[in-house]
Amino acid sequence: MEALQVNGRRIFFFGALGGLLFGYDTGVISGAILFIKDDFGLSPFMQGAVVAVLLLGAMVGAALAGPLSHRMGRRRLIIIAGVTFTIGALAAAAAPSAGVLIAARFVLGLAVGCAALVVPMYLSEIAPTEIRGAVASMNQMMIVIGILVAFIVNAILASSGDWRLMLGLAAVPSLVLLLGMFFLPETPRYLVQQGEEASAREVLEEVQPDDAPHAEQPEQKIREIREIDEKEQEGGWAILKARWVRPALVVAVGLAVFQQFVGINTIIYYAPTTLTQAGFGSDAAIYANLVIGALNVVATIVAIRIIDRVGRKPMLLGGVIGMAASLTVLGVTSSVLSQPTSTSDPMAWITLACLAAFIVSFAATWGPVVWVMLPEVLPLGARGPAMGVAVFGNWAANFVVSQTFPVMISGWGPGPVFLGYAVMGVLAFIFVKILVPETKGRSLEEIEASLQRKAGIADDDRQEEAATRRRVPQTG
Ligand code: BGC
Repeated sequence: MEALQVNGRRIFFFGALGGLLFGYDTGVISGAILFIKDDFGLSPFMQGAVVAVLLLGAMVGAALAGPLSHRMGRRRLIIIAGVTFTIGALAAAAAPSAGVLIAARFVLGLAVGCAALVVPMYLSEIAPTEIRGAVASMNQMMIVIGILVAFIVNAILASSGDWRLMLGLAAVPSLVLLLGMFFLPETPRYLVQQGEEASAREVLEEVQPDDAPHAEQPEQKIREIREIDEKEQEGGWAILKARWVRPALVVAVGLAVFQQFVGINTIIYYAPTTLTQAGFGSDAAIYANLVIGALNVVATIVAIRIIDRVGRKPMLLGGVIGMAASLTVLGVTSSVLSQPTSTSDPMAWITLACLAAFIVSFAATWGPVVWVMLPEVLPLGARGPAMGVAVFGNWAANFVVSQTFPVMISGWGPGPVFLGYAVMGVLAFIFVKILVPETKGRSLEEIEASLQRKAGIADDDRQEEAATRRRVPQTG
């Protein structure tokens, strides 16, 4: 039985590796761009293009991955993301011109967007209910480790300025991911949907921890999935118009978009710049950035430990209070105190403390919880396309924030900008309080049934809509 548990852990580990590449590829560019711009003589516009094209690729990758995850399965799609990551990393490292580099970063973006969708879905569907929060948080754990490794690589290679090595190193974990995924199973939900119940039973037995007090029986689980599957018929985009999908879709898109609108990536992508503007020298800013990356990892470990006990909703509410409070302190102090010129100025340290408090509040809550909850709240029959919309929304919001932040800072200064993100935090609090359900300790099938009940949608509606869809061929 011990061997089975180790096997379960291996599945969770390799399943989550796509998150590492998401983190590394988004984190590495902040350091690499300093040297790329000199090598290729890039204008500010072209520098922005090299950085931002990955986010555009991720939007497209997420939109494509939704329906594909239904057609070809979760596992095969992770393998495709792995191949794309490897090609993108090697092409970026070898790019002879800025044009090729931009194209390679777009390809990497496709893989990042695809992984952002399919990795949480894979982990959530394969994990037993009682540890699903912790298993699905492995995705975020890998993202933050990827970001920290990228910051460390940037700091080590800064003296040589070897940006090609910085970008090319991403090929190592992508090959490990590829090799690992060849030996991993498909998720039980997808297998049941495909009528492969014997394989689904084997996977369910393999991942179930043997010390679980209320272990779910594979037979019962398969029956629940089959019941849901019979009521719904997953289709392409057209399924998103169905009335029974709407309440869950609103929750998922809201969580995905607010995760970005609270301003997390103004720190992940721009902390060194903010810190130099707050009086730190460039070397000190790089080290302070490493501290931020390390806090990001440590607070994520805390989240994994508590998520299946405390529950998702209290974490989202508590986290956003912490984030809004640190943004308010930063916004107010930068508005009333004069611009610092060195680290002897208190404003330098207030800035670092506020960024650190924000990162801890985010990493212990909204970072993992949002990626855990997206597949949890979305009904099986619409999970692929609906995740596509939510994850697209996450990258689109990320693009808007990271493109407008430098412009707003130079136009209005940091005070009003950080206060603006604090207001977003207040809106996120209200959204969670009113609309987001608790999902801790409930099976994906129970969550789906209760969301439908809450929205006043009877089982019959789903069956009827599914039957109509079967009669009327869909174009979407
Ligand atoms: C977010 C990313 C962010 C990262 C920071 C993730 O949950 O989706 O946009 O860069 O956390 O740790």
